[in-house]
Amino acid sequence: MRTKVVIIGSGPSGLLLGQLLTNAGIDNVIVDRVGKEHILSRVRAGVLEEGTVGLVDRAGVGERLHREGLPHDGFSLTFDGRDHRIDLFDLTGGKRVMVYGQTELTRDLIERRERDGGVVIYDAVNVVPSGFDGDHPHVTFEKDGVTQRIDCDFIAGCDGFHGASRKAVPEGAIKTFEKIYPFGWLGILADVPPVNHELIYANHPRGFALCSMRSETRSRYYVQCSLDDKVEMWSDDRFWDELRRRLPAHHAEVMVTGPSFEKSIAPLRSFVVEPMRFGRMFLVGDAAHIVPPTGAKGLNLAASDVYYLIEGLLEHYQEKSDAALDAYSARALSRVWKAVRFSWSMTTLLHRFPDTGDFGQKIQEAELDYLTHSRAASTAMAENYVGLPY
Ligand code: FAD
Ligand code: DHB
Repeated sequence: MRTKVVIIGSGPSGLLLGQLLTNAGIDNVIVDRVGKEHILSRVRAGVLEEGTVGLVDRAGVGERLHREGLPHDGFSLTFDGRDHRIDLFDLTGGKRVMVYGQTELTRDLIERRERDGGVVIYDAVNVVPSGFDGDHPHVTFEKDGVTQRIDCDFIAGCDGFHGASRKAVPEGAIKTFEKIYPFGWLGILADVPPVNHELIYANHPRGFALCSMRSETRSRYYVQCSLDDKVEMWSDDRFWDELRRRLPAHHAEVMVTGPSFEKSIAPLRSFVVEPMRFGRMFLVGDAAHIVPPTGAKGLNLAASDVYYLIEGLLEHYQEKSDAALDAYSARALSRVWKAVRFSWSMTTLLHRFPDTGDFGQKIQEAELDYLTHSRAASTAMAENYVGLPY
């Protein structure tokens, strides 16, 4: 088989890139190691920047997002029993974010690809990108026990942190930057109305908590937990008790609880590889970088990578110029590092670290209090949260 671009990974970055290529008439094939049901069962991010929404619109897949998504003009920081609202709309001169689950976005992209007759090869075993350092890149894999090979012009490694693309790069050609955080996030989904109409990011001596949502009747809540914790150790009752304890009383008292239908623990890390291009293979999204979820940047960074890569691929095929492809890695990394910094700083400000102690807690509260009194500090936070320009 031959195509122009083989996309490894059918997550949001692979599907979005595939749709933008298809819309431009550029043949592409997506290969994923799991099946559609598995992909649609993953519960992940929930906050989309305007740039991400714009890209989804450009792909022609934004209809349900605009109908069902919840535009948010601000969020709350809580600490020391207090609430401070970051007014995103006012502080950024009219920008907001959209709350819409990654699972729903992925569903929209998959359905559109199916309608367009785009190829996705699911349940591919042993996917290996090769030849990208020369002129004959190709991807091999096994499907139903048969080895297959797809030749192409370019490979897009959109296969997440544990994918095959980054692993195929020779060690000497890649530099890795990593920070592991000494805690995780326990997240639940429950069909109860959200405690607040906007997100709450809570700093508390017992640990961080986040109140988010998927709709007006479905809540997504997180509490910072130990890396040694197992989901089985957290009954719903224990989760709700802990969440309530980490919120100011005026929120805790009105919180509606109920049975959760999803519960999982995610580790937190910052991770970046440089460069993001290796000959005819480009790394995109989580394959190249991971951020702790505190700033809601993971999915949005995957989208900005797609923006830079589609510019390069369109220029290559339509204008016969490789200038934008050559600039891909540097442009993407410049934005990635700023989001890595922001996610790290939000994480540091809001979580209880093993060495935070009473002194560290006071320093965090002083910084949060400074945020409440300084428009400049609040503006910097708002500007990063809504997403820096592409
Ligand atoms: P992915 O979504 O990881 O997609 C990669 C795709 O590649 C998958 O379909 C996978 O099956 C496929 N694949 C993997 N290996 C191979 C292989 N060898 N061969 C072929 N295919 C392969 N971000 C937030 O902003 N907020 C959150 O709350 C949040 N929670 C998260 C929770 C978890 C458990 C994880 C893992 C991430 C979370 N993120 C969150 C980050 C966000 O979801 C990601 O940044 C986003 O999914 C990145 O999209 P992607 O398409 O680059 O990668
Ligand atoms: C969600 C996740 C985040 O990491 C975040 O910062 C905001 C919202 C969510 O899953 O809704």
